[in-house]
Amino acid sequence: MKDKFIADLHKGQELNMLAQTEELLAAYEDVIDLSVGDPDMTTPSPIIEASYKDSLAGHTHYTAFRGDPELRSEIVKYYKEEYDVDITDEEVFVVTSANMGMYVALFTCLNPGDEVLIPDPCFPVYNEQLRFCRATAVPVPTYEEERFRFNPQRAREYVTDKTKALIINTPCNPTGACMNLSDMQEIADFAKEFDLLVISDDIYTGMSYQEPFVPIISLPGMKERTITINSTSKNFVMTGYRLGWAIAPDYLADALRKTNDMMVFTAPAPSQRAARYALAHRHELMPSFMDEFKERVFRTAEKINSIPHISVLPPMGTFYLFVNIKETGLNAEEFVYKVLEKAHVLVMPGTAFGAAGEGYVRIACTKSVEELAEAMERIRSVGL
Ligand SMILES: Cc1ncc(COP(=O)(O)O)c(C=O)c1O
Repeated sequence: MKDKFIADLHKGQELNMLAQTEELLAAYEDVIDLSVGDPDMTTPSPIIEASYKDSLAGHTHYTAFRGDPELRSEIVKYYKEEYDVDITDEEVFVVTSANMGMYVALFTCLNPGDEVLIPDPCFPVYNEQLRFCRATAVPVPTYEEERFRFNPQRAREYVTDKTKALIINTPCNPTGACMNLSDMQEIADFAKEFDLLVISDDIYTGMSYQEPFVPIISLPGMKERTITINSTSKNFVMTGYRLGWAIAPDYLADALRKTNDMMVFTAPAPSQRAARYALAHRHELMPSFMDEFKERVFRTAEKINSIPHISVLPPMGTFYLFVNIKETGLNAEEFVYKVLEKAHVLVMPGTAFGAAGEGYVRIACTKSVEELAEAMERIRSVGL
């Protein structure tokens, strides 16, 4: 009866498995949850304390529309010091999370019917946000044999006269894939050849284990056609602060502002102060949890590769492992339900991230080394 009050956009849409985890977790009392990308660690206390102190000192208001000036200048410094990239204060736009940054970017740049290339598998929010913008997501499959890198040669087949943009994400959720300098150079050439905007989701930059992270804006001619999205969620274990930023060419500044003003006006001041502190003290803060993530993924990968019929590539980046389950004879969802039922371990089917994720499951190493080891032993004992 009330159907008419729901926008057509939401009709006939089923929740995907990522959205059903609460229900699945309730099935057993002792489930080890390796499904969601939110680590078990609490944000380092100096960040919490700095934000609290700054709140007491009056940082409890709306901030400047592009974000707290001190945070913006810390972001400018961070890109210079870490990647030797020169960005200006005017190119930085603070937002409430990478998710919001992506939405603001897509909403600002796309017209209905525009096509956007996305890697498959990828973070599923891209797909949904594109649908919300009445644009079309065009998945470009990535393959384990190519270490799941986004392959511009393949992407060429998917370009039409409606293609406007390309989303990249390295290190990548869910595959953990990292693109190196030559991969990024190829993507940059491709974007220039077809005159595409690149939206680069860089939120796992601290977790690149084999080769250094290369921001695409550091490549010649890319700054004017790239929107970089980043946040403190993963690099500083600050998922609950909901704080991120976009770096965009100055010709987009007014339009980005309009979109962002309409939705939230400005990001929470205490979160911006927390982010300012986190970036300024990154050298003291990051090693402890980055080392921990690295240990978790490498130890878990070793265990996975010792279990018959499942395997994973040597970890490249992020805290995710994208596990090949093809030899078990189960599809991704069957594997997830079987492992939940028999081992009380919850992982994500690769298909939650796109059709090319069939034959894989994603394990989020968001629990301690001991719990991860216990989870892998339970999976082994299922006898897949
Ligand atoms: C690739 C990717 N982008 C964006 C996000 C969302 O990040 P935020 O917490 O900053 O919204 C996630 C979260 O898992 C992610 O994996």
